[in-house]
Amino acid sequence: MVVLLAALSHAAAAAESRHAMVVAEGDLAARAGLEIIERGGNAVDAAAAVSLALGVTNSGSCGIGGGGFMLIYWAKTGKLYGLDYRERAPAAASATMYIRDGKPAEELARTGPLAVAVPGEIAGLDAALRRFGTMRFSEVAAPAIKLARSGFPLSPHMARDISLTAPAIAHDPGFRAVFFNAGGSPLKAGDTVYDRNLAVLMQRLGDEPVESFYHGEVAAEIAAYMKDRGGLLTAQDLAGYTPVWRDPIHLAHHNYDVYSMPPPSSGGVVLEILGMFGPSHMEGLGVDSPPYLAQLIELMRQGFVDRDRYADPAFVTVPIAWLLSAAHLAQARADALHHQNGLAPTAAAHDHGTSNFAIVDKAGNVVDVTTTINTIFGAQIMVPALGLILNNEMDDFSVAPGVPNAFKLIGAKTNEIAPGKRPLSSMSPLIALRHGRPAFVAGGSGGPTIITGVLQVTLDSLDFDLDPERAVAEPRIHHQAAPDMVFVESSMPTPTTNELRRMGYNIRLVPELGAVNAIRIAPGDLRGAFDHRKGGGAVGD
Ligand code: DON
Repeated sequence: MVVLLAALSHAAAAAESRHAMVVAEGDLAARAGLEIIERGGNAVDAAAAVSLALGVTNSGSCGIGGGGFMLIYWAKTGKLYGLDYRERAPAAASATMYIRDGKPAEELARTGPLAVAVPGEIAGLDAALRRFGTMRFSEVAAPAIKLARSGFPLSPHMARDISLTAPAIAHDPGFRAVFFNAGGSPLKAGDTVYDRNLAVLMQRLGDEPVESFYHGEVAAEIAAYMKDRGGLLTAQDLAGYTPVWRDPIHLAHHNYDVYSMPPPSSGGVVLEILGMFGPSHMEGLGVDSPPYLAQLIELMRQGFVDRDRYADPAFVTVPIAWLLSAAHLAQARADALHHQNGLAPTAAAHDHGTSNFAIVDKAGNVVDVTTTINTIFGAQIMVPALGLILNNEMDDFSVAPGVPNAFKLIGAKTNEIAPGKRPLSSMSPLIALRHGRPAFVAGGSGGPTIITGVLQVTLDSLDFDLDPERAVAEPRIHHQAAPDMVFVESSMPTPTTNELRRMGYNIRLVPELGAVNAIRIAPGDLRGAFDHRKGGGAVGD
């Protein structure tokens, strides 16, 4: 039985259940996952269904034209598995591809055909299903196909995505057909959206989706469209795409074993900041207390400084074991608490693209997925006949030395563009075990605020012992080293913000910082929360 706890004072939406739970940034997508579990599927089957459904209902954030990371706890082996189906740079990409007349033209990495990296979503879902799933692709795609074909009510979040990008996407025939009414106005929240070409595409993928999408007719159609528009992505790039199984990374934190994705994810940054706190550094500090928040700010800064070492491990050696070693954590903490820097302030951008969801099934398997097409509607181009929205993940590379990306992250050389390389990501799904059994799962969306959001919800849950809905609803802060500015949600109590100002921090109040989902897991007692900041669904049985 599901107990909905949607009207809690902290305005987070949560659910309690005994056997299974799906929490997603979309109610219909969460229900698609639960439907698969109720038909006998496991958490991986459900994850494929939720991913595909989110690609319909939250297509401003994620979909088949993007890619992501899947973290799996598999009850039968008691082990964790990480699947990287991040996009890759096309073979024709290069470190200087966005330089025009000697200057970086970073807008080319954000919108239009040159921004598109090779999508990994379908290859990832297929790999996960083949290794751990019990259902065929067509079975897990069925709920998504139904939503796209029969229509679904537009969520307030998606309506905002459409209106924010309307000046750009209204000129694209594919977007116009799906997201605008006959008079050319953007659809509004509650309007019914039909995405029939996307329904047909998912149907065409059948039970051999990789064959069709990466090698067959669909691949040829994508490549032809890209060629026509002056993009780099070719049929060979699609044919060469492979997802990668990666061993999750680990940190012992109090009585928990915390796991996340290795590079090119930023899971290591979350674990490093968590590790810098150490077991006793928070004693006597309250969840919103200024001394705690001041430590958090300094440790976030150090985490983002060390993030410059991160990139695709096939191209760069990322010293993860050293970064998470006790010696480095102690030194990094000491450095962090005596920092000096003079970085110039600029505004950070948090546009709420990307989507996270978490699933616990009846066998105790746990899946945590973060998937994205990067910023809202990705490259803002759609292959119209396929209903396929293409990512702009190339902007997650360092476009040129010192040039900030859409999230004001200033790229390091480690993350420069190279053919076939995966861009560094902030997506950081996290699963914590206690005494060898899953106890907590969290993940989020919102560019670099994913790192700090997942971190804070984890600290609030594991260290401050808050319920998931309270942990998710707590006001959050964000600091990413550059700009030298602390973003604070306006829901933070004013005396706290004033105290941080008095301590000398350069505070910028913002309405909200990213979105985080969380589930607390105990035998027969699952409690999940999605983030009211973005909306979503938490359903269980
Ligand atoms: O992988 C990354 O870090 C980005 N592409 C995530 C983008 C994102 O979360 C968009 N929302 N603000």
